[in-house]
Amino acid sequence: MTRIVFITPDSQRIEIDALDGLSVMECARRANVPGIVAECGGACSCATCHVHVDPSWCSAVGEAAGMERDMLEFAEDVRESSRLSCQVKVAPDLDGLTLHLPAGQG
Ligand code: FES
Repeated sequence: MTRIVFITPDSQRIEIDALDGLSVMECARRANVPGIVAECGGACSCATCHVHVDPSWCSAVGEAAGMERDMLEFAEDVRESSRLSCQVKVAPDLDGLTLHLPAGQG
């Protein structure tokens, strides 16, 4: 289990135990984290699983690339720290990962 922290637009903190090997999106959906809609089910074709990675975690998570970067063009409030959570795999080295939920999603 890896701990992932979501911060809502109104600064509420939601902490979940995520299963290693699943995507962050899958774990967020299982835990009913608000704002992670995931319309396409993880196929990288909807951008409704958009998150902003906390600055302290950006290097560990890495940047979006390829298809994910293209799909992010359809999301709102895209930043350098933006990722699609369906494309981030949970792993022990991400324990404590902090993600901010964009306003207006979901
Ligand atoms: Fe659709 Fe991530 S769930 S792009």
